Amino acid sequence: MGLLRLILRRSRDQRRSLRRPPAVLPLQVLRCGTLPIALLQCVMLTDTLLREVFDASPDAILVVDDGGVIRDANEPAATMFQWDRGELVGLSVDLLVPFQHRARHAELRAEYALQPRARPMGHGLLLHGERRDGSQFPVEIALTPWQPADDQPMVVCTVRDLSRFDRWRSMSMAREGAAEAERTRMAAELHDDIVQRMVFIKHRFTTLRNAEGLSGDDGRLLELSAAIDDTIASIERICRGLTPLELKHFGLSFALRILFREHSEAGFAVQSDLMDVGRELDPAKALSLFRIVQESLSNAREHSGADEAIVTLTRDSEWIEVEVRDAGVGFDTAAVASSGSGIGLLGMSERAAMVGGLFEVRSSLGNGTGIRVRVPVAEHATAEDEL
Ligand SMILES: Nc1ncnc2c1ncn2[C@@H]1O[C@H](COP(=O)(O)OP(=O)(O)O)[C@@H](O)[C@H]1O
Ligand SMILES: [Mg+2]
Repeated sequence: MGLLRLILRRSRDQRRSLRRPPAVLPLQVLRCGTLPIALLQCVMLTDTLLREVFDASPDAILVVDDGGVIRDANEPAATMFQWDRGELVGLSVDLLVPFQHRARHAELRAEYALQPRARPMGHGLLLHGERRDGSQFPVEIALTPWQPADDQPMVVCTVRDLSRFDRWRSMSMAREGAAEAERTRMAAELHDDIVQRMVFIKHRFTTLRNAEGLSGDDGRLLELSAAIDDTIASIERICRGLTPLELKHFGLSFALRILFREHSEAGFAVQSDLMDVGRELDPAKALSLFRIVQESLSNAREHSGADEAIVTLTRDSEWIEVEVRDAGVGFDTAAVASSGSGIGLLGMSERAAMVGGLFEVRSSLGNGTGIRVRVPVAEHATAEDEL
């Protein structure tokens, strides 16, 4: 980024010193649908060498004006977002943002314009870009304000496609794998140690009560016995939350049904329509899908205000798709992303990305929430193989 700015500044200085006219500013007709909506001056780097350096960047670079219009883009940007470069220049940068965040992104741009400074975008959250075909991919974005001598303020955006970084994916998988292993260990310890001790206490209690000839109807003893049973049940519930053993033994659809039953028993109804997915699915993918549904349902129960959610699972030979919908209050997805909260949502999108899947949140205030995740069935396939 610094390099680009340096090059741009040098180019400007050279132009001035040679008393050349400013860089050629070809006029471009912007089109929105079929309507020409503006004539735009496009700042192009005329120097071939500069152009080559610009295009040699491993990252996508976009030069965006105050109105959010892309004034220039390098070849990697065109490849990354699947637009021809000619089409990309003149397009609104909001079109490269996942459609569910577009409206909010326009507001965030306006906020950035008030206080422009070099910084990463998204406050450390996992961000996504959207390709022309609507597919989304994880990105890292850095923003740098740039004031050309003879034009309005611009922002230079550098976009790095994280899905291309196997290291990122394997690091996330390793981190998640370690966390899952730790959860399994804790569940095993709770179950094999604490639960067994509680069962022993219950057994001793019953033996003692009988030996002492105490009445089985004594209120205090009944209360004590019920308290022991409750404690055992609640530890077992915690164990199931930590590691879904049913998933390993009986597969995804079965484990999901158990999860739904627990919610329904607690007063939050889950309507479901699940195609059968058993143990044949790769365990990492099954676990990712399970955890995403688990988190989506807790969110629906905790935040939506609705008293039910609908879960569907469909599959074909290539994809498994799961959707969790509620008709509750909904939320402003971009505001949550930019506020730095949303760890649950971030975790879901990371889980999907780790197994080569696509993750999408559709929500707006008053219109409920839909979480959709799509995972390739094939062992080594990733969402990008679809391209
Ligand atoms: N189904 C939903 N309905 C309404 N709001 C939701 C829903 N899911 C998420 N949210 C909003 O998004 C925020 C972030 O969710 P999440 O990342 O899971 O974090 P947490 O649940 O810990 O708050 C929530 O605090 C809530 O405001
Ligand atoms: Mg949550």
